[in-house]
Amino acid sequence: MPKLCLIPGDGIGKEVIPAAALVLLAVTPSLEIITAEAGWECFQKRGVSVPDETFLMACECGASLFGAVSSPSSRVAGYRSSIIALRQRLECYANIRPIRSLPAVSPRSGVNLVVVRENTEGLYSGKERMEENGNCAIAERVITRQASLRIAQCALNLAVTEGREKVTIVHKANILPLTDGLFRDCVLEVASEQPQFKELEIDQLLVDTATFMMVSEPQRYDLIVTTNLFGDILSDVAAYWGGGLGYSPSLNLGEQFAIAEPVHGSAPDIAGKGIANPIAAILSGALLLRHYWNMPDLAYIVESAVEKFLGERYLQKKQWTTNEITRAILEKL
Ligand code: NAI
Ligand code: MG
Repeated sequence: MPKLCLIPGDGIGKEVIPAAALVLLAVTPSLEIITAEAGWECFQKRGVSVPDETFLMACECGASLFGAVSSPSSRVAGYRSSIIALRQRLECYANIRPIRSLPAVSPRSGVNLVVVRENTEGLYSGKERMEENGNCAIAERVITRQASLRIAQCALNLAVTEGREKVTIVHKANILPLTDGLFRDCVLEVASEQPQFKELEIDQLLVDTATFMMVSEPQRYDLIVTTNLFGDILSDVAAYWGGGLGYSPSLNLGEQFAIAEPVHGSAPDIAGKGIANPIAAILSGALLLRHYWNMPDLAYIVESAVEKFLGERYLQKKQWTTNEITRAILEKL
C-alpha cells in the first residue's frame, strides 16, 4: 500500500498541498497519508526548519509531497532551506521537470520537454567561503564523475521509457573545460556504452545558446540533461511555455526516496486568500504516480483531468478559487 508524507510548508503550500492530496486519494483510495512540518513558521516555532520526525516520516513513507517554504531575505543563524536539506538527506539526486503546452494557459502549443538536472552538487554544493578579510567571496562548483554518471543514467533511462528521441546535454565546457568537460563526457560515455541508448540522438549546446533557444524555439527540445544551476534557471525559463509557475510540477528522485514539489514558492502576496492555483501541486502528485509508484495509467488520468478542465472550463471564469479548481478537476477524473 503506497504511503505519502505531506509537507505543506508555508504560505500557499498549506493551500495547494491538501488539494493535491484530495486528487491523489481519489485515484488511489488505499493511499495512506501522514502530514509533517517544515519551513519558516516551523523554524520560528521550534528553532529548526526540518524537525527530525519530518525526516523520519519522509523516510518511512518513501514518497513526499512538499509545498513551499518561505525564506527570510537576509541570513538568519541556524536557518537552512528545508527543501535543500530534504533533497540532500534523502539523496534525491535527480530533479525532473517536465514542461508541456497546456490548453488555455500556454503561450505556445507544441512544447513537450523535460529538464533533468543534477541535484546534489555543482554550484549548490554548499561550499562557499570568504577570504581576504571579507573582500573575496568564493563558491566551489563541484562536479564529480560519480554524480555525473548517475544523472546521465537517470536521464537516458527516462528518455527511453518516455519514448523520447533526442537528449540535449547543456554545459559550458568552452569556459569550464574541466568541470563541464567532465560532466559532458560522462553523459556521452553512458550514451555510447549501453545498447539501449543507441537509437537516441545525442545533442549538445552551450548554456547561453540553449537559453536563447529555450525562448526562441522551445519545440526543438525533447529531454535536457544538465548541471544544478544551469538546470534551475533553464527549467524556470521553460516553465513559461507550460503556463507559468501555477502549472509547473517537479520531482526530486533518488534510489530510495522521492519528493514531489510544485516549482513555485510560498507566494506571500496571495497566501490565505484561497486563490492559489493547485494545478502545479496536483501535477507534481502525478509525477509520484508515474515515476515512484510506477502507476503511469493513474498519472495519465490525473493529467488528462487537468487538461480537460483547462480546455473545457478554464476560460469561463476570470478568477478561480483553489477549491473550485480542485473540485472541477475531481469531476473530470
Ligand atoms: P513565488 O513562486 O512564491 O511567487 C512568485 C509570483 O507567482 C507571485 O506573484 C505569486 O503570487 C505567483 N504564484 C506562485 N505560485 C502561484 C500559484 N500556485 N497560484 C497563483 N499564483 C502563484 O516566488 P517568490 O515571490 O520569489 O518567493 C516567495 C517566497 O517563496 C520566498 O520566501 C522564497 O524564498 C520562497 N520560495 C520557496 C521555494 C520552495 O520552497 N521550493 C521556491 C521559490 C521560492
Ligand atoms: Mg528554482
